[in-house]
Amino acid sequence: MSTYPFEENHDTVCYCMNVDNFTIKKAIYDLKLKEVDDVVRETKAGGGCMSCHMTIETILDEVWADLEKEGFKRY
Ligand code: FES
Repeated sequence: MSTYPFEENHDTVCYCMNVDNFTIKKAIYDLKLKEVDDVVRETKAGGGCMSCHMTIETILDEVWADLEKEGFKRY
């Protein structure tokens, strides 16, 4: 059973580095990543052509909505 407050979605987000949605969400949630650059550093997603950066921003907003409900502060 997942301990995460989001679905296991294995759709590819970053085609350059072949990284899926769930891998990115888990990294953001577990490591409290705040910026796209943090996601690039920890997962490699976004480290190529950068065309997935908008999607990564959206994923950051989604995960931080959950984290803020749990009392964590993004800003
Ligand atoms: S698709 Fe993510 S860096 Fe190119």
